[in-house]
Amino acid sequence: MKISDMRRDYESSGLRRSDLHADPLVQFETWFEEAHAAGVADVNALSLASVGADGQPGLRTVLLKDVSDGGFVFYTNYGSSKGLSLQARPQATMLFHWLELNRQVIVEGQVVKVSEAESAAYFSSRPRGSQLSAWASQQSAGIASREALEQQLAEVSARFGDGPIPLPPFWGGFRLMPRRIEFWQGRPNRLHDRLAYQLTDGHWQISRLQP
Ligand SMILES: Cc1cc2nc3c(=O)[nH]c(=O)nc-3n(C[C@H](O)[C@H](O)[C@H](O)COP(=O)(O)O)c2cc1C
Repeated sequence: MKISDMRRDYESSGLRRSDLHADPLVQFETWFEEAHAAGVADVNALSLASVGADGQPGLRTVLLKDVSDGGFVFYTNYGSSKGLSLQARPQATMLFHWLELNRQVIVEGQVVKVSEAESAAYFSSRPRGSQLSAWASQQSAGIASREALEQQLAEVSARFGDGPIPLPPFWGGFRLMPRRIEFWQGRPNRLHDRLAYQLTDGHWQISRLQP
């Protein structure tokens, strides 16, 4: 199969300005629920872009865990590559691609750390194995071997025993506060629909973009 021959047409009834809710977060939740109902796997998985100290864009998958207080929340290690980038340069972009619905949503804005209480509440809801792995991993740092990583996990497991596992001080959430959100709906013949919300003087303005 030649990669250049790979293509499929995107069937959909399209996206009109009149379909959109005035609040892009409500619109996001509508599309999110539709993607979930359509059986999209890992519907809350998104690509998260950050900016490195040298200007190099950093990109990785994370899981959306909440849409609240006007923003999009995910959790990570604050000392990871992304964690350090986001604290030094708090601009970020999120991309959701819901292939089965021929839809893409791009969210741009500034990130802020969520409160420790909010991170602790989420951390306590995680399975115990995930809590231990958060403690055991110095995310993004190198390590000599898989065995060394498992040794770190064994050490934290022994330390906590059967007791409760507190929120690691180096772990928690970020909330991306959107300034721009674009909804993309694939259409036949690549004549797609793009409608973007832009926050201007505290109000969301909607405009249509060429595909
Ligand atoms: C489906 C999927 C979900 C993931 N969810 C998260 C997440 O919620 N938080 C996180 O820190 N890393 C998550 N990861 C791992 C990240 O993609 C990445 O490898 C890790 O966070 C280190 O990134 P960094 O070195 O750029 O900081 C996920 C990976 C995949 C494939």
